[in-house]
Amino acid sequence: MVLVTGGTGYIGSHTAVELLKQGEEIVIVDNFSNSKPEVLDAIKDITGREFKFYNVDILDKQSLSKVFKENKIDSVINFAGFKAVGESVKEPIKYYYNNITGILVLLQVMREFDCKSIIFSSTATVYGEKNPIPYKEEYPVAITTNPYATTKLFIEQILKDTCIADKNFKVMLLRYFNPIGAHESGKIGEDPNGIPNNLMPYIAQVAAGKLKTLNVFGNDYETRDGTGVRDYIHVVDLAIGHIKALEHMKNSNAGVQTYNLGTGIGYSVLDIINTFEKVTATKIDYKITERRPGDIAEFYADASKAERELGWKATRGIIDMCRDTWNFAKNKYMNN
Ligand code: UFG
Repeated sequence: MVLVTGGTGYIGSHTAVELLKQGEEIVIVDNFSNSKPEVLDAIKDITGREFKFYNVDILDKQSLSKVFKENKIDSVINFAGFKAVGESVKEPIKYYYNNITGILVLLQVMREFDCKSIIFSSTATVYGEKNPIPYKEEYPVAITTNPYATTKLFIEQILKDTCIADKNFKVMLLRYFNPIGAHESGKIGEDPNGIPNNLMPYIAQVAAGKLKTLNVFGNDYETRDGTGVRDYIHVVDLAIGHIKALEHMKNSNAGVQTYNLGTGIGYSVLDIINTFEKVTATKIDYKITERRPGDIAEFYADASKAERELGWKATRGIIDMCRDTWNFAKNKYMNN
């Protein structure tokens, strides 16, 4: 059985769907700190399958132990954690406390129940600012530009040290690039609280008339049109990457393995705006503003290791990403 922590969140819910579609038995643990209970019904609707759910904060060791006591968990996929970059700069202690304590408690409980396989959600930002693009897994990780990203960097190290100390422990570090899009059913997707920090949810809310104008953070970068370039990946492709990683982990020796989950293609902010407008027949009102502190001009993945070793490759393109984002956002923001 697979434990999915943070399984009602954006990436967690899409991964839960793919696991259930594969016939895996899963348990979801979430405390709805940044998600809603309706997601559980949506996962059931999409897959037609039942699963166990616990409303538990992974920092609550006693409750988490109960989950392990009541279920035979052999692997964990850990999505639970805070992820807002801007908030992490304002409240570093909250971020370090929650994200680091969360993984430590989880590892303690896993050890207690002899569960020794974990897939961890890391981020491309651990490559820092100095590595050449495209980013390759063997590049040195570097000092990050915000506390959120630093929690990911520290947790990667914690997991590496855990594997050194316990020769039976298996860890998959998955470095995500920029997940966007939604399930094609439109039943699950990204629905951030408050004003979105990230590009695609912001665009979706402008298109839906919920927000007025998109701020494009700088057009004087050394990129082909001056705006920031990222490796956007469809969240369903990302979710399928976890299925492949889980299969691979089961057949692997102990130790740490690291994979980029990206497409290998970079799109600029203006590319995204233009494609979104075309695909959805909407108009995105935008203006060019100052650069956002901490942003990097351009990065994308070398995604060849995951293809070679996991047999995984993103198959959904930018048109699918825009269409599926809009399909979800339209339902969410225009029908209520
Ligand atoms: N951007 C805008 N306007 C906005 C929001 C974003 O112009 O309102 C631009 C940014 O400057 C950047 C691009 O759109 O060039 C993408 O920005 P996002 O905020 O969507 O994504 P980031 O690349 O900054 O960060 C995301 C996640 C992080 C994660 C990182 C990994 O938010 O959690 O990807 O690469 F760590």
